[in-house]
Amino acid sequence: VSKIVVANWKMNGDINKIVQDLDYFLKHPQVNRENTILALPLPFLGLANTKLNTTQDVHLKLASQDASRFNGFGAYTGETSATMLKEMGISYVIIGHSERRNALAEGDDVLISKLTNVAMSEMIPIYCIGEDKEARSLGSYKKVLTSQLETLLKLVEFIEDNNIRLRRLLVAYEPIWSIGTGVIPTLENIIEVNLLIKAFMQKYLPRVKIDTLYGGSVSAANAKDILDCADIDGVLVGGASLIASDFAVICDVASI
Ligand code: 13P
Repeated sequence: VSKIVVANWKMNGDINKIVQDLDYFLKHPQVNRENTILALPLPFLGLANTKLNTTQDVHLKLASQDASRFNGFGAYTGETSATMLKEMGISYVIIGHSERRNALAEGDDVLISKLTNVAMSEMIPIYCIGEDKEARSLGSYKKVLTSQLETLLKLVEFIEDNNIRLRRLLVAYEPIWSIGTGVIPTLENIIEVNLLIKAFMQKYLPRVKIDTLYGGSVSAANAKDILDCADIDGVLVGGASLIASDFAVICDVASI
């Protein structure tokens, strides 16, 4: 089964790198496929979209790393709305990444607005959850993760009240202590959380197609073990997605 691979470049890259990496990805059929999603920095999404639109046989999808909590258009200096992202040809938007929850203090209200805006623009949210080191060592991680999943209940309420159709949602489990550290949970731990997410979604969003991802120090070396885990639909890759050849290896493993 072909699995999903999302590249999260975070605040990295420049025009040269975008052009070079896209050329490299487009030449590699394992990377250039429907299930590869590139979350590039916002200023480069237009360039990437133009490049992909003017090239033949493109299957790659683009994601934004964020969308504004405000919707449509308006006097919100510096913000980029889901409406604008949709018009740019973006298919997916990352919401709830721990770096934004923490460094930018994004709480429930902000996340709910962003999720509903993305859903209204008919894009697919990639909703991230993850516990910190303390919650993991204290054993309270399931409680933390469940409460982060509960944020989605407000989205459910909103789409039901407003007759919005949410076709699909990606949920990424990214333990904070694993991001950028080279340390990954045991496969049993990953599977346990994956089951928790799937059970929650089955209960509260039975009509939405849910795909689950694991993220946190995914590399060319460990991707196969993670992607081989039953019921895990893909990976969200940070650092390793910046090395085109490593990213190609991960996509290769995911396409078997
Ligand atoms: P790393 O793969 O660099 O650990 O980052 C993971 C991540 O935060 C992806 O969103």
